[in-house]
Amino acid sequence: MNAISNTGQEIREYYLNCYETTAPAGQQWTTATAAPELVSLVRSGALPQGASVLDIGCGVGSESVYLAGAGFKVTAVDIAPQAVERGRALAEVYGYSVDWHVGDVLDLPFGQGTFDAVTDRGCFHCLRAHERERFAQEVARMLRPGGLYVLRCVSSQRPGQVRPDDASHFVRTFGVSSTELWEAFGPHFQAEHMELGSASPDADPSSPYGWYCLWRRRAE
Ligand SMILES: C[S@@+](CC[C@H](N)C(=O)[O-])C[C@H]1O[C@@H](n2cnc3c(N)ncnc32)[C@H](O)[C@@H]1O
Repeated sequence: MNAISNTGQEIREYYLNCYETTAPAGQQWTTATAAPELVSLVRSGALPQGASVLDIGCGVGSESVYLAGAGFKVTAVDIAPQAVERGRALAEVYGYSVDWHVGDVLDLPFGQGTFDAVTDRGCFHCLRAHERERFAQEVARMLRPGGLYVLRCVSSQRPGQVRPDDASHFVRTFGVSSTELWEAFGPHFQAEHMELGSASPDADPSSPYGWYCLWRRRAE
């Protein structure tokens, strides 16, 4: 894989290229199924049965297909056509119905209040600082009032750290601070949950941390 660069266009080209040239097993972010926090939300009923859910930056659709199998009405979108095609093929194998779209999350065709929930594993942090406000507005627009935005993104901070951690190129490229999250989502959402965690704190103390946040769309 090529090194990741920093402009919005370079990031998008990075993903387009990865999905064209690298199998899912070689993509660091791709997992075969949904993340534990999403599974917990489904099992707890926090995502109500049969809700309409948009998986934004769905990649090869691991979480979209999981949600469809769990009975949700799923729409999935990614900028990379090859990723969406893999998702479509996976859903077909299982016989699940997902409404697949290729598109840019900053310019989606869905109407106001279309979705009960939006899930995001690793898409928001692909956007550059000047695109974040627009992204948050778009997510808020597509969610019904009271709808839930489930965000997972790379953190620029580690626990107890106020200043962003610029230790690695990866964290500098994708990391988002708590202040930046509040600036983007605070105007439209109430924070129900903000958790800073590491995938492997014991195995690799230097591994990046990530945010798991639940944002509730304000009723206006
Ligand atoms: C870290 S990957 C996560 C993929 C998937 N959610 C998963 O968990 O496997 C980020 C995804 O966001 C997509 N993406 C980045 N910028 C995007 C944009 N502006 N519009 C739509 N998708 C975008 C990438 O193509 C990539 O599939």
